[in-house]
Amino acid sequence: MAEKNYSRREFIRRNSMAGAGAILATGLAPAVFGSEIKKSAIPAILGGSAAANIDWPEWPYWNPETDDKLVLDSIRSGVWSRKKLVDEFEKKWAAAIGAKRCLTVVNGTNSLITSLIQLGIGAGDEVIIPPYTFIATPQSVLATGAMPVFVDTDPETFQIDAAKIEAKITSRTRAIMPVHLGGLSADMDKIMEIARKHNLIVIEDACQAHLAEYNHQKLGTIGHAGGFSFQNSKNLPIGEGGAIVSNDEKFVDRCHSYHNLGFPYGTAIGSVNSGSIMYGNKLRLTEYQAAIGLVQLSRLDSQTKTRTENAEYLKAKLKKIPGILPMEAYPGVTRGVYHLFILRYKKDEFKGLSREGFMNALDAEGIPCYSGYTQLNLMPFLKDAFQTKNFVKTYSKKRLNYSKYLEQNQCPQNDILCNEEAVWFNQRLFLTGKKEMDMFYSAVEKTYANAEKLKKAETK
Ligand SMILES: Cc1ncc(COP(=O)(O)O)c(C=O)c1O
Repeated sequence: MAEKNYSRREFIRRNSMAGAGAILATGLAPAVFGSEIKKSAIPAILGGSAAANIDWPEWPYWNPETDDKLVLDSIRSGVWSRKKLVDEFEKKWAAAIGAKRCLTVVNGTNSLITSLIQLGIGAGDEVIIPPYTFIATPQSVLATGAMPVFVDTDPETFQIDAAKIEAKITSRTRAIMPVHLGGLSADMDKIMEIARKHNLIVIEDACQAHLAEYNHQKLGTIGHAGGFSFQNSKNLPIGEGGAIVSNDEKFVDRCHSYHNLGFPYGTAIGSVNSGSIMYGNKLRLTEYQAAIGLVQLSRLDSQTKTRTENAEYLKAKLKKIPGILPMEAYPGVTRGVYHLFILRYKKDEFKGLSREGFMNALDAEGIPCYSGYTQLNLMPFLKDAFQTKNFVKTYSKKRLNYSKYLEQNQCPQNDILCNEEAVWFNQRLFLTGKKEMDMFYSAVEKTYANAEKLKKAETK
């Protein structure tokens, strides 16, 4: 492929330019930075009128007229424990992402824990993960008794920096758990290559990546197993819920048995013909949760198309504003689903206006935003895990030396994203249209044009 001739960053740069070119070719006027109009418009936070007066969509979406029936029928049937609706949802989710099998569980966290355990990962092992993720990623590793090892974030993409993985592999490393942050893929070609070379398992944390693709393959189906979340905020929301997907049928049979207190399932029947045959847990989804899931699944693809189209339209426009760097996609990304839309904010291009000042100004213009994750690799939960009986009995004192662990798990790029640069926008903002995206853009452009005023107000 042509892109093979470029370095990765060069390719990203070229891609970005191609994206911007495409927008210009479709007839959109280029931005006029610091134009008199934008400069004379008083920032909303300083008493002017907001650039974006938008009733942003609520989330989760629910239409009583079309959606109530299936859920109410399931409740009124009195069949609440897993049965045919859960089976149906699992079949449909597996089909939607092209996996041989899907098993639902109570949440995304337990989809990861179950996958790790059933792939043989536990006490004494190391699992490589990114620090730019939800707390559930490291917590799931700790729950198995294994040790999370953090690899720094690629600031351009917000994904694990695959180029830094090999330096963290030791004789104890058993798995890599990339997170497809925000619904864009981690660098899966590189990660799978490293995994093959070092004989490691890959479990994809696809909790934010419903229907996202890499090289036209759905995320969650590239590694040995994929974990999904259907928590309230997710692109496919059930409230709580999760799923394991895999093409390894024996592994899913074992997961099924495990999620049902070790009762036999499929090939996981061993030689015992009655009672529980495996060490297990109880992680079953309910019928009414599956009913909600089926309703949400029926509109996921069309919502995803809208979200992706709007996010990419806005992304191409925002790139024209100095100091605004939206998250980039690796060359292999064929579908990003923007569970989060994240950008890097460079305050030097905004006359030194702090990230908080920028976010407050944007909020006042009608664009809700957040600063996102804090530094997971430095949080106290790790120290607490090191003091549990299981850890104390498993690991040597040297390995449980917390300050040494912190030192070995430094992630300086990630620190900058967490503490200084990242600005998040919720996926629901992108379930709108071009008009809303243009207002969104105007709000950022207006903030840029008035950065000096805003900085002065901030330092008063
Ligand atoms: C990246 C990531 N991993 C894991 C999880 C855990 O999923 P859940 O909240 O369903 O347990 C989430 C979502 O909350 C997530 O965003």
